[in-house]
Amino acid sequence: MPGTCVIGLQWGDEAKGKLVDILTEHHDIVVRYQGGANAGHTVVSGGETWKLSLIPSGILRDGVTCVVTGGVVLDPVAVLREIDMLEGRGVRVGAKLLLSDRTHVVFPWHVAEDRLLDGSLAGGEAIGTTGRGIGPCYRDKVGRALAVRLGDLYRPGFPDTLRHIVAAKRRLLGLQGEASAALPELDADGILADTLRLAARLEPFVADTTAFLLDAAEAGRRLLFEGAQGTLLDVDHGTYPFVTSSNSSGLGVGSGSGVPPRWIDRSIGVVKAYSTRVGGGPLPTEQDNAVGMHLRERGNEYGTVTRRPRRCGWFDDVAARYAARLSGVDELAVMLLDVLGGLDELRICTAYEIDGRTVTHFPSHVDDLRHARPVYETLPGWQEDLGAVRSVAGLPGAAQRYVQRIGELLGRPVSIVSVGPDRAQTIPCDHPGGGERSWPRHPSPARA
Ligand code: GDP
Ligand code: IMO
Ligand code: MG
Repeated sequence: MPGTCVIGLQWGDEAKGKLVDILTEHHDIVVRYQGGANAGHTVVSGGETWKLSLIPSGILRDGVTCVVTGGVVLDPVAVLREIDMLEGRGVRVGAKLLLSDRTHVVFPWHVAEDRLLDGSLAGGEAIGTTGRGIGPCYRDKVGRALAVRLGDLYRPGFPDTLRHIVAAKRRLLGLQGEASAALPELDADGILADTLRLAARLEPFVADTTAFLLDAAEAGRRLLFEGAQGTLLDVDHGTYPFVTSSNSSGLGVGSGSGVPPRWIDRSIGVVKAYSTRVGGGPLPTEQDNAVGMHLRERGNEYGTVTRRPRRCGWFDDVAARYAARLSGVDELAVMLLDVLGGLDELRICTAYEIDGRTVTHFPSHVDDLRHARPVYETLPGWQEDLGAVRSVAGLPGAAQRYVQRIGELLGRPVSIVSVGPDRAQTIPCDHPGGGERSWPRHPSPARA
């Protein structure tokens, strides 16, 4: 059975893009199945840095097909900008990219609504969204009446549908005819002309990706599913309401892609060696101090999409263990281990104290998480720079112990350790029971 999925086990930015790029070598098809241009995935190779938002991180390799499925919300301007960026830098996108005709389209009003509505939680708190129109587009998808899918753009009735939606949006947003600072004037003719121009450019990429992927799975082609965001941002199972609007845990792979779980035989949970979060919501192990500064500066923890400084803290085993179980991962990739170098001692949160009780389960209500006081265990740190290390044996003893402890606590073998952003700065680990489960699992295919 041919499928692998890569799932973030924290609050996003676990370096999924780096891992997907590496694993692409052993797969035929790379699939983005949820989220949208809120994602920012980085691949570094040979001194060149690539930032991808909507296009799967496999696009940099030859001989693969990259698929964006119906579970994604697609901003046509953003995806075309990304295609142009790649082509401009010598990456041929051409026939390598397929965009699902079921993908929901992000329109300018979604972006405006996102910016207008963030901060309107009870109490005026902000989710701190990426401002890419993600929540409003998913809301319209579920609401059905005001939604447009990519395939709709090529239907004869589209101009009428768009006029109907623009009129409804104008009513809902209380637009009286003049543009406001927060909301652009919604001019149906202008938006229609823009959309049809974008649609013409996108048409060669549009396909029924569900049929394509089911055929591919049945033919034994190897699929790699690239999660966006992280398990704790999952709309149903994350730190609601401080979440994104899709199922960003492993549970979303099937619904977002149209490929049922029977085709997935390997699930890799990706963790940073510490915790980060960008935007609002609780982060129990947050370090608003010199440790947090160390992590932010050494880890270059500034948002890929918005450049916002990421909040940083110690590794949270309670949160990551919940995420590993929920996402059903079999093994772990521990990324950014090098960033911990130079700290005298390291902490891992193994339990929370909430209202005088010690708990090891992840609370279902965000208010309980806000009150959670982390209970830490302390491990020795190391001073060495890990950037040039290429084997587990080459890691300082303290770094080996730290990685081993994460694996023990999460109850999963660590199969990959990353010690720098570059493709080359990656350490495959043979783990107990290795053999079939050792990494890389799939032999490199002979390519024509
Ligand atoms: P993603 O959203 O999960 O793909 O992760 P991002 O790309 O948003 O953030 C991960 C950041 O860490 C990127 O800037 C990567 O280039 C960088 N990175 C990846 N692996 C490592 C690593 O092992 N060490 C260091 N120092 N940086 C890394
Ligand atoms: P990748 O794929 C980190 C966060 C936002 C905000 C919340 C909701 O790069 O890991 P949204 O715009 O989705 O409505 O914002 O989710 N968020 C991310 N944080 N990495 C991401 O993606 C994120 N995508 C969304 O900061 O808190
Ligand atoms: Mg990111």
